[in-house]
Amino acid sequence: MTGNVDVVTRRVLVLNGPNLGRLGSREPDVYGHQDLSELRTRLAAAAADDVEIDLRQTDDEAELIGWLHGAVDAGEPVILNPAAFTHYSYATRDACALVTKAGIPLVEVHISNPAAREEFRHTSVIGAVATGTIAGFGFDSYVLALRAVGLAA
Ligand code: DQA
Repeated sequence: MTGNVDVVTRRVLVLNGPNLGRLGSREPDVYGHQDLSELRTRLAAAAADDVEIDLRQTDDEAELIGWLHGAVDAGEPVILNPAAFTHYSYATRDACALVTKAGIPLVEVHISNPAAREEFRHTSVIGAVATGTIAGFGFDSYVLALRAVGLAA
């Protein structure tokens, strides 16, 4: 008997906050020369075969919060670079708490190491409600986060 093989695809949301759409040209001394499409390619190569990378970027806090609500509803793990929202957005923090309190992993990532930069970057209002934080490894921070949520090859 022949039958169909059901291929179950696991998805991970890779959410990027304000100004990260400018990667490639934005402060390359801090963030490197690669853009988000290169990050998408990098993550797709690092992911297990059945994993779909859903990488998005927004400058709009309301849109980001809507995506986090969607992660709760879909039960999908999140890799989040909250960018400048990291340092002051309690609304983003509360949305992240909805994700982790639902038992869904959310990894906070940063390309740079905010702890080694200006004082205002030393505070993360997200860190305490994230599953964990990975910072300072360039795009490798995202690859390490993919491993942390168990979706790397
Ligand atoms: C960043 C660090 C933040 O302080 C900054 O506002 C960003 C990028 C990073 O990935 O290193 O936009 O999140």
